[in-house]
Parts: sequence; C-alpha cells; structure tokens
Amino acid sequence: MKTTDVRRDMPLLDKIIYLDAASTTPTPRHIIESMNDYFYNYNANTGRGAYHLAVRATQELEQARKKIAKFINSDPKEIIFTKNATESINMVAHGITWNKGDKIIVSNMEHHSNLVPWLNLQDRGVEIKIIKADENGVIDPGEVEKALDEHTRLVTITHINNSIGSVQPVNEISRIVEDQNAFYLVDAAQSAGHINMDLKKLKADFIAFPGHKGLLGPVGTGFLYHARDSHAKLNPLNLGGSTVENVTENYFELTESPSCFEAGTQNIAGFIGLGSATNYLGRIGISKIEKHSKKLTKIMYQGVQDIENANVYGSPENIYGIVSFNIDNINPHDLAKILDEVKSICVRSGFHCAMPSLRHMGAYQLGGTVRASIHYYNTREEIETLCETLQDVSKFIKT
Ligand SMILES: Cc1ncc(COP(=O)(O)O)c(C=O)c1O
Repeated sequence: MKTTDVRRDMPLLDKIIYLDAASTTPTPRHIIESMNDYFYNYNANTGRGAYHLAVRATQELEQARKKIAKFINSDPKEIIFTKNATESINMVAHGITWNKGDKIIVSNMEHHSNLVPWLNLQDRGVEIKIIKADENGVIDPGEVEKALDEHTRLVTITHINNSIGSVQPVNEISRIVEDQNAFYLVDAAQSAGHINMDLKKLKADFIAFPGHKGLLGPVGTGFLYHARDSHAKLNPLNLGGSTVENVTENYFELTESPSCFEAGTQNIAGFIGLGSATNYLGRIGISKIEKHSKKLTKIMYQGVQDIENANVYGSPENIYGIVSFNIDNINPHDLAKILDEVKSICVRSGFHCAMPSLRHMGAYQLGGTVRASIHYYNTREEIETLCETLQDVSKFIKT
C-alpha cells in the first residue's frame, strides 16, 4: 500500500495537514468498518453468553488479540487489553508488590505517564533513580549499568521520547538489565507501528502500547505485553467479573492471565478495530513505514533548522518521527495557532506531558516547544508546506 492509498482511507486528511501522530492518529476507514460490523451485526458482551451473538463477539475479540500478538511476534496470552499506554504502565506500577528499599531506574526523558506512577511509589519507601540524558536527549546505557545494584527491581525507558523524538538504546539496555535480577519495562508509545520491534532483541518483561497512535487503532485502546517467561508477578489493577475462576462468599480464585487483568466489560469494538489496524499495518509493511518516516523526519529537521531564528532539539541522526522546535520571540502555542489558522497545519505545542525532558533540553522556560510528528500518511509536500509557512512566520516576526 502506498501513502496515497492510506490517505484515501483517511478522508480527514483532505482538509488539514495533520502533524500530530505523537498524540493520536486518524483511524482508517477499514478499521472503522470493522468496528461498525460489530455494532451492526454482533453487538454483544464477550466471555459470558452462550447465544450465537455472544459467542461470535468473544471469538472476534480473541481473534483481535491473536492478530495483535502476531503483529509483535508474541503469544496471545502475553497481550493484556488496556485503555491506553498510561493504563498499561499503571498496571505494572500498581501490580508489583514493592518493598521498602526497592529501587526503580527511570530517565529524565519520560512522558509523565512513565514517570509519575513511579514517583508515586516513593511514599512506600521505593527509591527512584533518575538517569540523565545527554545534550541530545539520549540515554547512555553505561549510566543505567552504573545505577543498577542489588536493590533495583525495575528499569524503565521510553523507546522513542515524545517531546523531541530521541531514540533510546532500548536493546542495549535490555542486555544490561538481563544480567541483573531486575524487571524491564519499555514504553513503546511512540515506536509501536512506526519502527520494527524485535522482541528477541528487546527482551523486556513488559512493554506498554497505545493502540491509538502509531498502530492506527481507535482511541480508547492500548495493551500491555507481559512476557510469559518473565518472573515478574503482577496483582491485577481491577478485580471483578471476568477476573475470577471460582468465588465463594469469603474467597476468590483468580483466572489465568490475560483475563485476570481484564475486569468487567471491555472496549470490545475498540479492540476488534485495533486487531484490524495491525492487519492494516502489516499490509503496508513496517519496513516501508520506517523508510518513509526516516526520510520525512530528515527533510523536516533540515527544513526547520534552515530557518535563521529557529532552534531544533535533538540530533538529526538520532530522532525519529518527531521534530520539536522553537522560533525566537514567539510562544509555542501562538505559533501552533498561526500554523493552524494560516494553513490548517495541526501540531502540538507546550510541554507534551514531559516537563522534565524539556527542562533538560532548555525549552521549559520558553513555554515548551512546537512539535510536528508524522506517520506513513504524511507527504513530502506537507512537510514542505510546514517549513515554508514557518519561514514566512519567522520573517514576519523579525521585521
Ligand atoms: C512516550 C509516551 N508514553 C506514554 C504516553 C501515554 O499514552 P496514552 O495516551 O496512550 O496513555 C504517551 C502519549 O503521548 C507518550 O508519548
């Protein structure tokens, strides 16, 4: 499938230049149709009824789990449905039984969703060790190695940072963590559906996925990959229907994973849509997506850097899918509003839910940055329009 084919499936893109894939992505027609099929033809709850509609809904949901597992080369039992990447991370933060004196290693380049749940554990006597990135927002695996000790229970790093797009050496870090008795969680919010992820090299106990970003699934979907061979034991975040095998008036026995983690009625249509989305991405081909986005990222980085009074964050060799920048003497929100008003260019502005990372990059006191983020549906022409418009705005401000 070509970029033009995908754009045909996303009519929204005819009206705007959408450069906010890091927040969420448009849902392709085919995925919406698969959800409509559920609503029109077999709208029933799953895992409960014996009548044919309920059986079909259950089968389709489990089929979606299989498609998702196949897409990331894992086992369906390793896929726990959640509502977003944040919930996947919280499932781990709340699910592990922490002891006073345990240590968690995390970086200063995290989205708040992969920082706040850990900081919250300080009340229980858990130590949070923050690894600082270099001037390009990249984590040195050697720093993780230095910080690891016998108290470390968990190391967690985001694969691609969301505020400036720096790609972290998650495979190297996994090799370091593997030698220790610690768990490893990777936040794949900005890499899933964008770049190839080889679970054989990325040996993580947990990977947090959103369904609604790079994977092109609907909002309200995500999942937690929990490796079957992991020694990490999780207590479920929620309990209730679907999570139990046997219940008496004073006792309950949990079912196996993943159902013990999926309490209550699920976002059935959403996960069916997410299953279709992984098939859709498979039809495009992840290597093709990667090649396309790498090329556009380079063009965009260069184009913004060429603007005299612009400041781009991160190094072009090590960013992917995201270009984050400021133009002198204009607040990021004002610049984003101008881009929208002048050319219907949709970009994110501000702190991108990653304040420590922008403090580290020196952009916090500027009110954050403007962030343009792409996917396979974006074109070279759109990137050129962004850069030309920025040139015009920049000239206007200077005069
Ligand atoms: C790196 C990173 N982690 C976590 C999240 C949270 O994702 P979600 O909105 O799916 O909870 C985001 C969202 O932008 C992100 O960029």
